[in-house]
Amino acid sequence: MRASRLTEKPSLCLALVGCVFAALLAGCGEEPKTPPTRSEAGAARPADAELAQVYDNSCKLCHANPSAGAPLTGDIKAWEPRVLQGADTLLDHAINGYNGMPPMGMCMQCSQEQFLALIAFMSGQQIQ
Ligand code: HEC
Repeated sequence: MRASRLTEKPSLCLALVGCVFAALLAGCGEEPKTPPTRSEAGAARPADAELAQVYDNSCKLCHANPSAGAPLTGDIKAWEPRVLQGADTLLDHAINGYNGMPPMGMCMQCSQEQFLALIAFMSGQQIQ
């Protein structure tokens, strides 16, 4: 009895430590997602080098700048209702502009595929 208790303890302890750690890292389960800070939004870059270059020279100027009024890169909450509009509307707004969002998002050479990839990257969500 005693012996088995002793062997169980460390694993329970590890599990607790693991969960606390995971909570710190990601916000366990259904914790409210906090919007990214300016430096978090500014540090995020697409994995693809070419896309990252495009992003740095256009979208990032506003989408990593809280005072621009644009949904910030990585701010899942801010992007969610926009993403729900679907790929067609998002593309239309990216290409033709939408309120403070300039036509082509200042990337005149961007293809439709690149716009969709950039939106998916910034929103952290799949665009369909
Ligand atoms: C000059 C600033 C600026 C730049 C550069 C910019 N955006 Fe935006 N973007 C905005 C603002 C402001 C909004 C919010 C518009 C609103 O909802 O009123 C926005 C919104 C959007 C939306 C959401 C539109 C919707 O239907 O809700 C998409 C998609 C988007 N931007 C994509 C891009 C992409 C892709 C790039 C880079 C190629 C880019 N933006 C570059 C300012 C910018």
